[in-house]
Amino acid sequence: MGDNGTVRVVVVSYGSLTAVSDLHVSYAENREVVENLRPESPEDWLLVAGDVAETIPNVEWALSVLRERFATVVWVPGNHELWTTPNDPMTLRGVDRYDELVAMCRRIGVLTPEDPFATWTGPDGPVTVAPLFVGYDYTFRPDGCATKEQGLAYAHETGVVCTDEYMLHPDPYPTRDDWCRARVDESERRLKECDPAFPIVMVNHYPLVREPTRVLRYPEFAQWCGTELTADWHTRFTTAAMVYGHLHIPRSTVYDGVPFEEVSLGYPREWQPRTRRPGLPRVILPGQR
Ligand SMILES: [Fe+2]
Ligand SMILES: [Fe+2]
Repeated sequence: MGDNGTVRVVVVSYGSLTAVSDLHVSYAENREVVENLRPESPEDWLLVAGDVAETIPNVEWALSVLRERFATVVWVPGNHELWTTPNDPMTLRGVDRYDELVAMCRRIGVLTPEDPFATWTGPDGPVTVAPLFVGYDYTFRPDGCATKEQGLAYAHETGVVCTDEYMLHPDPYPTRDDWCRARVDESERRLKECDPAFPIVMVNHYPLVREPTRVLRYPEFAQWCGTELTADWHTRFTTAAMVYGHLHIPRSTVYDGVPFEEVSLGYPREWQPRTRRPGLPRVILPGQR
C-alpha cells in the first residue's frame, strides 16, 4: 500500500527474444525495411541469422542501426557476408574475412559465435543463446547421388549452382566442407560446455536438420544448405528453439518437439509480392500460448 492508502502497482516490463535474417541490405528496399525495424520494447534482444550484406561497411551499417535500438544484438554469418566479390576493395578471404567481421561486431557491441554464449532472462527464460557458425558440407545431396562429386555434377547439369562456388573461399582450409567440419567440432565443444539447467536457443544461418530444405523449388540447392553432422543436435542438447534463415522461405515448423524458425526477409522480388508479409522481427520467446 502507498503512504496515502492507495495500492502501488509496479509494472515490470520484460523484453522479447526476437529474430530476423537475410536482410540483404544492398537492396535499397531492404535498407528501408531495416530503417523501420524497431523493437516492441527497448529491452528486446535481436538475433540476426546471417546474409546481412556482401560488404563489411554494409553489414556494419545495418548492425549499427539495430544495435542502437535493441538491448542486445547477436549476429551469425551467412554465406553472403563471406563472399569476396570482385569489386570489393576488401579482398580478405575465408577465415580472415570472418575474423574481420567479428572484429567489426566487437567494435559496435554486437555478439558473435566467438563470444561467450549470453543468457536471456525474459519470460519463458532463462535460455542460453548460442550463435553458431556451421556451414555446409554437401551431404544434403540430390536423390541418387552418393558423393559430393556426383551431387555437384548433377547441379552443374541442371544449372542450379550456388554462387558460393565462385565467391566463398575457404582459406586456409582446402575446401568449404573442411571449414564446415572444423566449425562443427568447435560448435559441438561449445554446446557441450553449456549449463544443462538452461535450454538453448540455437542460431545458425543454415537449418541444423535437412527437413526444411525439402520444400526448395530446386532440390539440388540443398547441398549448400547445411550438414548431416548436426542432425541430432536439437535432441542431444535441450533446445528451446532453432533459428535459421538462408532458404528465403519464412515459416515455423516443429521437429521432434523443437520449434524451428526460418526468419528471413529475402530479396525484394521475393517479399514484395507476398500479400501477407510476415511480421519482422519474429518473436522467438516468449513462445505462443
Ligand atoms: Fe539470403
Ligand atoms: Fe544465405
